[in-house]
Parts: sequence; structure tokens; C-alpha cells
Amino acid sequence: MNKITIAIDGYSSTGKSTIAKQIAKHLGYVYVDSGAMYRAVTLYAMKQGLIHADDFNVEALIYQLDQVKISFKFNKDLGFAEVYLNDENVEKSIRTLEVSNFVSKVAAVTEVRKKLVAIQQQLGKDKGVVMDGRDIGTVVFPDAELKIFMTASAETRAKRRFKELMDRGDKVTYESVLKNVQDRDRLDSSRKDSPLIKAEDAIAIDNSELSIQQQFEKVLRLVSMALEDTE
Ligand code: DC
Repeated sequence: MNKITIAIDGYSSTGKSTIAKQIAKHLGYVYVDSGAMYRAVTLYAMKQGLIHADDFNVEALIYQLDQVKISFKFNKDLGFAEVYLNDENVEKSIRTLEVSNFVSKVAAVTEVRKKLVAIQQQLGKDKGVVMDGRDIGTVVFPDAELKIFMTASAETRAKRRFKELMDRGDKVTYESVLKNVQDRDRLDSSRKDSPLIKAEDAIAIDNSELSIQQQFEKVLRLVSMALEDTE
């Protein structure tokens, strides 16, 4: 059977990674979380003291970018590849609200995007990949056979994200999570380089009212149709 490229884009906390992981597992495809790569670069900048509150030393980050090595290693127990920053597993430390609060600024830097897009294209060069992010269908794989654009109301997304962070034991308020979701929507959609927009040929799915199972079945039908088209 032909292998295809599946691009899943959309707003923050729309459950892109949940569906992307399910589909990749079902098809035996590679799953790549491109947001994790932007988060890892953000963590690097934070560790190097390049970001504090409203102060972000962009030039220093660009200068040091060659020293930032991002890679993935498959974790058999989890069933997906975890992200590594300079050979250190950072899968957990990139998911804090602090990283979330800075990541859109780092993701707006063209040099960072160039570096990460090149890695993403390399990871998907043999097809058989499900990648989620903001610009996968528009910039990284404009020829992807299946493009999905996920949406849900900001409140629905903040509730889901709040529950996730609470379950992990993070002490955050619902209001701070909602603000982060809204701020990131605004920054990700308004940045100059590769803003978050729906590709013309992407299929939009609003999952505010869909269960995870309903969403899986819906996307699976789209996958079957895309696979049939390649035969
Ligand atoms: O998917 P996520 O929430 O983990 O992504 C973190 C941030 O990274 C998000 O606010 C925008 C940015 N991002 C991006 O600009 N391009 C991508 N392909 C993926 C993520």
C-alpha cells in the first residue's frame, strides 16, 4: 500500500497530538510533534538565560542556534518518540506553562523556523508520517496527501489543557491557562513568518463536541479516502 503524508495543523490545545498519535499507531506511521521542537528551543533559550519576562535576546539565540541539537527517540512503553535537546530527554520539561508562555515568541524567529522546518522535512522525506503543528500543511509539506485543520473554542481548549496540567500536579489557574491559549492563538496567527492559517486544501474539524473515539473514526475515514486517491 502507498504511504502518504498526513499534516495536522490547528490552534493550541485542540488535541492535535492525541489524534496524530492514534492515527500514526493505527497505520504504523512515524508521528512527529513539531511543537515539541519549538518548545525544546524555547527551553534551551530559558536555560541559557536568554528569556526573562518581557526580555528576549533574539540575536544571542540566533548566534547559538548551531549548538541546539533537537532529536527524537522512540519510547516503546509510551508508543511514540520523545524529544531530546542536546541528547537530554526534555519531553516533560517542555510542557510547563512557563515554556508555553514563551514559545510563540521563539517560534516567530525566522532562523529558528528555517532550522526546524529542515529537520521536519528530513523526518518526513520517505512519507508514512503524521506530523502536527501550525504550518505543516502550508509550509513543511504543502504537497501532503491529507491535511487536517483542527479547531475548538478557546474555552473548551483551556478546560482540556487545565485538566492535563492539574493531573500532572502543576499548580496553575484556569484563567492563566485560558489567557495562554488566547495569547498563543493571537501570536501564532499574526506572526509574519508562516502564520497559523488553514491551508486551502485542508479539511477543518471542530472537535468541541466530538469524543476522542468519534474524532478518530472521522479522521480514519479521511485517511482511507486519501489512501484510495493514491492508488
Ligand atoms: O503544538 P504546541 O502547542 O506544542 O506548539 C507550541 C508552539 O510552537 C505554538 O504556540 C506555536 C509553535 N509552533 C509553530 O509555530 N509551528 C509548528 N509547526 C508547531 C508549533
